[in-house]
Amino acid sequence: MSRTTTSTAAEVIARLPEPVGAALEAALELFPGGRNARITNPANEGALNHVLLIRTEQAQAVFRMRRAASSREIFDYLNAMYVHTGFPELGGLFRLRSIGEEIAFLHQARALGLPVPALLAEGDDWMLIELIEGRTAYAAVKDGDLGAVAAVVDTLRQAHERGVIYGDRWGDNEVIDPSGRVRPIDFDVEWTLREHRPGFLEAMEMGVYLFNALRLTSERPALLDLARRDLAPRLRDRGYDMPRMAGVVAGLGRFYLDPDKPGNEWSLPASLYRDLAAPVATLAAELNS
Ligand SMILES: Nc1ncnc2c1ncn2[C@@H]1O[C@H](COP(=O)(O)OP(=O)(O)O)[C@@H](O)[C@H]1O
Ligand SMILES: [Mg+2]
Repeated sequence: MSRTTTSTAAEVIARLPEPVGAALEAALELFPGGRNARITNPANEGALNHVLLIRTEQAQAVFRMRRAASSREIFDYLNAMYVHTGFPELGGLFRLRSIGEEIAFLHQARALGLPVPALLAEGDDWMLIELIEGRTAYAAVKDGDLGAVAAVVDTLRQAHERGVIYGDRWGDNEVIDPSGRVRPIDFDVEWTLREHRPGFLEAMEMGVYLFNALRLTSERPALLDLARRDLAPRLRDRGYDMPRMAGVVAGLGRFYLDPDKPGNEWSLPASLYRDLAAPVATLAAELNS
């Protein structure tokens, strides 16, 4: 994983592949004081997108554009993960959105009052969005701040009540702002269903998030306690398909512990996850009880 680096606009443009540098230049033209921007690569930048945090004296924004290669590899990795949850077998479909499709999703979600970033500017294959100060939900649970988990769960539930599935919620795609509000970002993966199955994607989304919170937190026993006392009863009261959610959690546990899972730059060896088996079984049982 790369470290955070901050550079001038000219330095970043020179470093990027030519079409990406040209797109960034076009974006900076639309940005007050853009030529004098300080630009940061997030430490946790993924394999699918160029993500650049832009700050000037007057304004700030995030530049986002797909990387040229690697989407096949990402698709295969996600597919292998989802197969373990029963998602494709039960009629679940997923695809990678283009930037244009991601922009359309942002518009839909904002129109429904959901707290996704504002779109500030767009090109054919890039967008400038609101930069949200704060830390990701992943960073919070890694530091043992479990308040983030209930906050993300509530944010997902709000979207589900309005008929929206964000897809790929795992903690690093949720920024918690200084007031504690959860702001979902990163909508490059779309989940849909082959046929109508009420509650299926909602349970999947919640299960994926809860599994990853458990995987990534420094406070697994406390998270299991929170799930038993608070999260599971609340989700059950809201009508979530709890057996499905438990199935997703158990399935992702099998994926992470599978010695043959596809290896790539994002995946860590299964040996690192051996101590995950018991907490995953407990979480699945709490959700299903
Ligand atoms: N709008 C934003 N506001 C604040 N931070 C952001 C924003 N967009 C991205 N980031 C940061 O960059 C990281 C990677 O961005 P993300 O959109 O998730 O793309 P990807 O996972 O494809 O690299 C996020 O985890 C977050 O730390
Ligand atoms: Mg992301």
